[in-house]
Amino acid sequence: MSSEPEDRIRIFDTTLRDGEQAPGCSMTLREKLRVAKALAELNVDIIEAGFPAASPGDFESVKAIADENFGPTICGLARCNAEDIEKVHAAVKGADRHRIHVFVATSAIHREHKLKMAKEEIIKSAVGAVTMARELVDDVEFSPEDASRTELGYLAEVVSAAIEAGATTVNIPDTVGYTVPAEFDRLFRYLKEHVAGIDDITLSVHCHNDLGMAVANSLAAVHAGARQIECTINGIGERAGNCSLEEVVMALRTRAEFFDLHTDIDSKRLYPTSRLVSSITGMHVPRNKAIVGENAFAHEAGIHQHGMLQHASTYEIMRPDDVGISRSNLVLGKHSGRHAFRDRVRELGFELDDFETNRAFQEFKKLADKKKDVFDGDIEAIIMNVDAATAGPWHMKSLSVHTQSDEPAEATVVLIGEDGEESSASATGDGPVHAAFQAIEGITGVPLALKNFELHSTSMGEDAQGEVTVTVVHDGESYRGHGASVDIVEAGSQACLEVTNRLLRRRQRGGPDTSTTIDRATI
Ligand code: KIV
Ligand code: ZN
Repeated sequence: MSSEPEDRIRIFDTTLRDGEQAPGCSMTLREKLRVAKALAELNVDIIEAGFPAASPGDFESVKAIADENFGPTICGLARCNAEDIEKVHAAVKGADRHRIHVFVATSAIHREHKLKMAKEEIIKSAVGAVTMARELVDDVEFSPEDASRTELGYLAEVVSAAIEAGATTVNIPDTVGYTVPAEFDRLFRYLKEHVAGIDDITLSVHCHNDLGMAVANSLAAVHAGARQIECTINGIGERAGNCSLEEVVMALRTRAEFFDLHTDIDSKRLYPTSRLVSSITGMHVPRNKAIVGENAFAHEAGIHQHGMLQHASTYEIMRPDDVGISRSNLVLGKHSGRHAFRDRVRELGFELDDFETNRAFQEFKKLADKKKDVFDGDIEAIIMNVDAATAGPWHMKSLSVHTQSDEPAEATVVLIGEDGEESSASATGDGPVHAAFQAIEGITGVPLALKNFELHSTSMGEDAQGEVTVTVVHDGESYRGHGASVDIVEAGSQACLEVTNRLLRRRQRGGPDTSTTIDRATI
């Protein structure tokens, strides 16, 4: 019999693999380490840290995450071949708990058009891969890709063969987001009935959101017997994304009386983790997104407000507190001290050590000098950007821009170098951001071409800070940088300087590595 407690759902987070695979969501090694640490604090059971065979950068980041040994099982993805499996093993083995995840497509469409393999060959390949992986580790997951479009009888055959070969988890992906809850429920019940040994392994579900049903389909699967859900923070992932972790976890928790299941997720970490991932990837969470969107707990309609004042449960099925959204109206300002700042940071769900608190507090003081009220969103932006704001070699001293219709914009930048010396440069450009970038290049000598500029307001009001994510190209490779300021041109310039500094530090370290680039091969 399975040792799995029947009512516990394991949360398998694939933000760093399937999520990171989505266009615009690639992360640097440093960013991936930050996300992995946050996922460990959220208490996910398994972190799928990447696909080591995809590129040397992927291998390095999976290895770095495994070597940190944050606590959750660290998993890497492999195709059914020896080289991929060996790479995963080499990358994940540093973690006390590690898993190899092998996959092969099983649907007729994939068999005929992608793999050009017969049914028997696919089974042979799956069995060979699971057997090899089991020789290396005790924890092996097998996924029949495009399972939801695979003939049921054949799917049961493949799954049976993988279990016999030693798979300890079998994951059923709805790779193209095609299924619907009632159909997926049937599929899981069919497998439970027709696959020998299925109760001795962990049955898992992995849904994509092409028809907007990834969460609903995952819930249908657990209702029918799955005990692991694969999901991503904010639902990021290929195309329309994956099952959103925060939504599926809160659905199980809020409707516990229906599902009679639970996860070990610390739900108060949901909002901070969501903010971290959106800030790192530059993929902003829509205002109306369930659980973590800005409006998720806002009640505008008079009749709702009236009900809420009588009793919150009239219109509220979850409390903002439950997911780590603080409802306090406390606003900090320039007279707020270190204690008030530190308490607020904690209430917002961030755990900073003394060194990080000091650096963030300095940035807070600078901001409070520019802006009367400092809101929670501002503090979050400070925390997200504090590394960048304080790491050199160059620091921004001042920036001035001049724009006039029908004229090129002009910018003058003053930077302070490592030796404390000031350098200044002026430049013109197609707009103020372009001109500022040119001026920064004039001082640092690092050319960056702007590919994308995303702006997001961190709070309300006319003195709100703009949080900017830029994607820039240097030597044919893409890099992402972040900045936040009440002046959006300054925020963009900080983001440009952040990338410049990373490139220069890389140069100082003596050469190319993959820790800063966001370009990489995908599956
Ligand atoms: O969507 C999918 O099929 C996958 C597998 C590799 C699990 O991501
Ligand atoms: Zn997927």
